[in-house]
Amino acid sequence: MNPGIEGIAFATSRYALELSALAEARGIDPRKYAVGLGINVMSVAPPDEDTVTLAASAAEQALQGIDRDQIEMVLLGTESGIDQSKAASTFVHGLLGLPRRCRVMELKQACYAGTFSLQLALPFLQAHPDKKVLVIASDIARYGLGKPGEPSQGCAAVAMVLSMQPRVLEFEPEYGVATDNVLDFWRPNYSDTAFVEGKYSSRLYLQMLEEVWGQYSERSGVGFDDIDFFCYHTPVPKLVEKAHQSLAALAGKGRIGKEQIEQQLGGSLDYGRELGNSYTATLFIGLCAVLERNSDDIAGKRIGFYSYGSGCVAEYFSGKVLPGYRDYLHHDYHREQIEGRELLDVPTYERFFDAPRSDASGDLEVEQHRTSGFHFCGMEGHRRLYRKEE
Ligand code: HMG
Repeated sequence: MNPGIEGIAFATSRYALELSALAEARGIDPRKYAVGLGINVMSVAPPDEDTVTLAASAAEQALQGIDRDQIEMVLLGTESGIDQSKAASTFVHGLLGLPRRCRVMELKQACYAGTFSLQLALPFLQAHPDKKVLVIASDIARYGLGKPGEPSQGCAAVAMVLSMQPRVLEFEPEYGVATDNVLDFWRPNYSDTAFVEGKYSSRLYLQMLEEVWGQYSERSGVGFDDIDFFCYHTPVPKLVEKAHQSLAALAGKGRIGKEQIEQQLGGSLDYGRELGNSYTATLFIGLCAVLERNSDDIAGKRIGFYSYGSGCVAEYFSGKVLPGYRDYLHHDYHREQIEGRELLDVPTYERFFDAPRSDASGDLEVEQHRTSGFHFCGMEGHRRLYRKEE
């Protein structure tokens, strides 16, 4: 058995904004967002929700029914870290009461950091088959009010418990990977919103796919037809559809129809259309959607994963769904996370967006919503304070 996923769950904030409301407020044709980008709704974080609280909520759910004492590593990939030195995952480790004998790290390479965390965990598990690794990808995507990237914001975290006793999916060993030092999307230390060359980033996303797919396919001997469902990093769903179209063309399929694209994506965009971009988390939220939105049992099916992190690093890899996987999914929790959100009006979304998340004075009072199991209480003496709801 290869290492793989024993449990996987995602969490998002309890607030959301319909893209039609944003379009109206910005004087934009709503079809541009709904059709041109393929997004309906984006999650919006209240002031007391951040990368740590989202990560803790996702991990608390993913760990249900799993022995926490075996967790010996926590890896958290994020673009929206909350401290320049202390790993966000140390807060998560504390909030979840994980064992002291544990390696804890935060990793950064834009949206790719979740995938790298995963790849770091796999050989560790092979060397220590009685241990488990908690991999979390958690982000709040922020481009700025009125900016072209605004409709491609969102927030969510996904947590995966990885082990040598996977119950949901096992990863296959081959991969294709490439790095190119480019500035398509970046966030200097002084900015809490991303800088982006939108069109350039989209071109790179497509170019890098071609390169890493070619490598993966050649090394593994796995062709386009050997993949049952395709999951992609999802900054906007429309780009994923374009990427899949170009992969099909590369595989000699010519131009495939909308129905074929939908069937091959296997519902992987269903949650993304309702959450928006959550950077590191989107790829694995796509996996949750494939597993949960297919009414058929898809055990034995191969899933291909395309990970892209601006800056940029891209990777293609794959995994196979395991028999009995349906007993370990968190479908109801995920539906509630999405359907239970309160829809905001645009002024409230803007107020949440502008609410300070830290303060150089070292003290910060934060409007408390306490809508999820963990919340950010504010800062005292330059220390971030968190609380778990009992
Ligand atoms: P934009 O300027 O809004 O794009 O930026 P546009 O004006 O080209 O419009 C988008 C599409 O809507 C076009 O379709 C229009 O024709 C269509 P396309 O030509 O692409 O097929 N459209 C309409 N359709 C129907 N009815 C209408 C209408 N009007 C226009 N009335 C962009 C879009 C995604 C670039 C922007 O939102 C952005 O900059 N987002 C942030 C960057 C981004 O998401 N980049 C994607 C790749 S990079 C990546 O994935 C990494 C990332 O996740 C970060 C990380 O790694 O951490 C971003």
